[in-house]
Amino acid sequence: MKTINELSYPIHIEDSKLNNLPKLLKKYTYKNRVYVVSDLNVWNIHSKNLLDSLRNFDVVVTLIEAGEKSKGLDGFNELTKSLIEKGILREDLLVAFGGGVVGDLVGFVAATLYRGIKYVNIPTTVLSQIDSSIGSKVGINFHEGKNILGSFKDPKFVYVFLPYLETLSRREFNNGMAEVIKIGLISDKTLLEDILLELDTKVFVEKAIKNKIKFILEDKFENNKRKLLNFGHTLGHAIESMNKYENIKHGEAISHGIIYAIKLGIKEKISDVKMLNYVYDILNRFELLNFKIGEYKEYFKYFKRDKKQIKEGIQFIFLKSIENPKVKVMRGKDLNVD
Ligand SMILES: NC(=O)c1ccc[n+]([C@@H]2O[C@H](COP(=O)([O-])OP(=O)(O)OC[C@H]3O[C@@H](n4cnc5c(N)ncnc54)[C@H](O)[C@@H]3O)[C@@H](O)[C@H]2O)c1
Repeated sequence: MKTINELSYPIHIEDSKLNNLPKLLKKYTYKNRVYVVSDLNVWNIHSKNLLDSLRNFDVVVTLIEAGEKSKGLDGFNELTKSLIEKGILREDLLVAFGGGVVGDLVGFVAATLYRGIKYVNIPTTVLSQIDSSIGSKVGINFHEGKNILGSFKDPKFVYVFLPYLETLSRREFNNGMAEVIKIGLISDKTLLEDILLELDTKVFVEKAIKNKIKFILEDKFENNKRKLLNFGHTLGHAIESMNKYENIKHGEAISHGIIYAIKLGIKEKISDVKMLNYVYDILNRFELLNFKIGEYKEYFKYFKRDKKQIKEGIQFIFLKSIENPKVKVMRGKDLNVD
C-alpha cells in the first residue's frame, strides 16, 4: 500500500488486496460499527470481497439506486432517514463505497447529520478515485442545478483500491479518463505521455491524484488556482444542462469543452494551433468525442448560469500550451468559433 500524506487526510492506494482496510477503519469506529453506503451496481459486484475483509466489524449496509438521480434532495432525505432508523449515532463512522455519486452524497450527509460525523471514502470509478474523492468537496443537486447544496468536508481517509476499476464498463472508464487527460493538459505532460504509452492504470491514477493535490494545496476553498481545474467545463456544463444530464457523460461533455476551449484559444491567438490535433488524438483514443453535440452557439445561453460568470463576462479558461492554462474574461459576442 502506498500512502499520500500531503492533504489533511491520507490517501491510501492499494493494488492487490483489501488487507489494510480493517486496521485503517478500526481507528475511527464506535463499538466496532461501520455504516456502509453503496449503490446497487457496486454492491452487486464488490460486496462479497468488502464484507469478507470487514468480517470482524458490525457492518450496517444502506443501498441506493445507481446514478445521478440519487444525488438530489429526495436521495439525501431517504438516506439520512434510513441511517437514523438504523440507529446511527454522532460517534459512528460512515463509509462511502462507490463512484462520485455515492461519495458526494455520503460526504454531504456526513457534513450535515448531527452537525457532522466521521466518514471514509472508498471510491470505485476512475473519476471518483482521481477527482471527486480528492479535495473535500461534497454536495447534492437541487432542482435543476448540479451540486448546488454542498460543503467542504474532509474524510478520515480515502482508500483507492485499483482493482475496482477492472469492472467498470468501457464507457465509465473512458468517462474518468477525460478528467485524467484534462489534468494532464493543464498541469503534467508526463501524464499524457503515460496514457499514450498505454502504461498501467496505477501509474496514471497516482499521478492524476498528485496533480489534483497540487491545485488543492494552493487553493483549498476554490478562490483562485483551483478554478483552472474547470478547464473544458464552461461548454461541458452547458452540454450537460442542455441534455438534462442524460445520455451524455460528464467526461464526454468536458472533452467537447476542451476542444472548444482550444479552438477559441486559437481564434484569440492564445493557444498553439499544433495542440489541437494532439488533443483530438488523445480524446479519440477513449471515444470521448463520439457524442454529436451540434453547433457550439446552441449552448451559449447556458454559459450565463456558469459559476465562472462575473459582471464583465465569463472567466474562460484557455490553454496557451500544455501545462500552461490561462484565465481571460470573455464577452458573449466573442465566443463564436463555428
Ligand atoms: N466532489 C467533487 O469534487 C466532484 C468532482 C467531480 C465530479 N463529482 C461528482 O461525481 C459524480 C460522478 O461520479 P462517477 O462518474 O463516479 O459516477 P457514478 O457514481 O454515477 O458511477 C458511474 C456508474 O458506474 C457504476 N460503478 C461504480 N463503480 C463501479 C465499479 N467498480 N464497477 C462497475 N460499475 C461501477 C455506478 O454504479 C454507476 O452506474 C457526479 O455527481 C459529479 O457531480 C464530484
